[in-house]
Amino acid sequence: MQRSELRKQLRLARQQLTRAQQDKAAEAVLQRLCDLPLLSHATYAACYLPNDGEVSLTPFIKHCWQSKATSHPMRCNTTLPVLHPVCKGHLLFLGYDAQTHMVKNTFAIPEPELACQNIVPMRHHSVIFMPLVGFDSQGNRLGMGGGFYDRTLASVREAHTRPALVGIAHDCQHVDRLPVQSWDVPLDAIVTPTQTITFNQK
Ligand SMILES: Nc1ncnc2c1ncn2[C@@H]1O[C@H](COP(=O)(O)OP(=O)(O)O)[C@@H](O)[C@H]1O
Ligand SMILES: [Mg+2]
Repeated sequence: MQRSELRKQLRLARQQLTRAQQDKAAEAVLQRLCDLPLLSHATYAACYLPNDGEVSLTPFIKHCWQSKATSHPMRCNTTLPVLHPVCKGHLLFLGYDAQTHMVKNTFAIPEPELACQNIVPMRHHSVIFMPLVGFDSQGNRLGMGGGFYDRTLASVREAHTRPALVGIAHDCQHVDRLPVQSWDVPLDAIVTPTQTITFNQK
């Protein structure tokens, strides 16, 4: 199937999930993320705000904020992606906490207001959590079609040390085999409400 047709079908499937199913999925993903070994000593975790029926990371983000105030082992800082103002099609990651001033980007998705001092370089992150439209059992990721994460991660995909790349998805976004292009950056792990699939040692 063509990527555009797959996107349409998979987006419809997640858009049709009920509020109750979405809430349950977000809680189940939070529990699974808390069990990820890589989060026990994490520095920064890049998250996202849900759009188009994506699994919400808000319970996870709140958990990180609350844990930071205690001596809990999982007390990493959270960042959010921001559309790069100069390098079109790329993302920056900015620190995100309860005080962050948010603005809407051109996709009407809230993002932290751009302030240079709040930019967190990619190499400072332990993990980048990515939303996706579809995934397969080989760790391939189909996004919304903008290629933002592929472009942003292109320079680090082969690097020896880089953040773990973890896709977050509903179970209904799993397909047998995705059509893959050379620029698609594969994932190190995928977390759904019922599964944690890891593809390498990260
Ligand atoms: N590293 C890259 N450099 C330049 N263009 C890229 C890069 N990665 C992706 N793109 C462009 O982004 C577009 C969308 O990528 P695609 O993989 O289809 O989207 P998504 O990953 O959001 O599903 C492609 O047409 C491709 O040309
Ligand atoms: Mg891609």
